[in-house]
Amino acid sequence: MSDPIVSTEGLCKRFGEVKAVDDVTFSVERGQVYGLLGPNGAGKTTILRMLTGLERPTAGNLRLFGEPVTPSCAQLLRVGAMVEQAAFVPHLSGMLNLKLWWEAGGTSFADADLDNALAVAGLDSAIDRKVRTYSQGMKQRLGFARLLLSRPELLILDEPTNGLDPGEIREIRELIGRLTDDGATVLLSSHHLNEVEQVCTHALVINHGRLVADGTVSELIGSSGAVYVEVDDRDRAQAILAALPSVSDVQQQGDGLVVHMRDGRRSDLAAAITTAGLRLETLMPTQQLEDAFLDLLAAQEVAS
Ligand SMILES: Nc1ncnc2c1ncn2[C@@H]1O[C@H](COP(=O)(O)OP(=O)(O)OP(=O)(O)O)[C@@H](O)[C@H]1O
Ligand SMILES: [Mg+2]
Repeated sequence: MSDPIVSTEGLCKRFGEVKAVDDVTFSVERGQVYGLLGPNGAGKTTILRMLTGLERPTAGNLRLFGEPVTPSCAQLLRVGAMVEQAAFVPHLSGMLNLKLWWEAGGTSFADADLDNALAVAGLDSAIDRKVRTYSQGMKQRLGFARLLLSRPELLILDEPTNGLDPGEIREIRELIGRLTDDGATVLLSSHHLNEVEQVCTHALVINHGRLVADGTVSELIGSSGAVYVEVDDRDRAQAILAALPSVSDVQQQGDGLVVHMRDGRRSDLAAAITTAGLRLETLMPTQQLEDAFLDLLAAQEVAS
């Protein structure tokens, strides 16, 4: 088997009395979208800073592509990291910002993977506008374009949707989907289970520096999660969904249906509804999923 893209063993980081990261072991395999999930101060940024060589562990091992991480080690050239706020020159265009930043690295802009970076970032003609006219979400997408210029195999993103509105969050989510379609591996942090659930294949839950749980996203939330669905013909949808092998129960609630699933993916529900010619208005996890995350954290508080 090939080496994991990222692996840590007993990783610790202390800041004086504070154990920011306490004995954390995990690994990320090629092609995964791996989420670090935890509340404020959990230690997410500290882990990502250690992985990018910005901070040294107090104890434990840390490897990228099978090799130990040291400040400015060669593997970091294969990583695109957005751990600090991306800064740009506001009175220059997005394109010129990319070019100047790239050339500051001492290589010709012709060698950058510009077409792909722009296609994934999806800024279209705005790339020629001054950055000071950009929204927060556009700046974030320019930050992605900048990372992608060097064709990174691994992307490390600290709260990539922080400070964005719901529309912008959706765009970043789609952008991460395009990245992984291209074969990149992604490690990101987030406060929101909902977000991790939508973009990640795997996740680790961390609190007070300690690992609370890890696994595939469906393992973490329990594959028996409930889903709220609204359609244009509720009675027909109820019959269709109840007949699916992955569905254990369907109940009417308000204008919609609450569907309890045994296994399978929520997209199966959407497919069954649209195949039957019904219109899907809403499909979302019920509050239960957020509860699963809070339960994990609460269980840890009791145990420690
Ligand atoms: N340079 C530092 N000096 C002292 N303490 C620090 C330093 N960096 C982080 N910490 C502390 O380490 C703990 C973990 O911080 P970290 O920033 O990694 O959390 P986080 O999970 O990224 O939180 P957030 O969701 O708020 O970004 C916190 O208690 C924080 O105050
Ligand atoms: Mg943080």
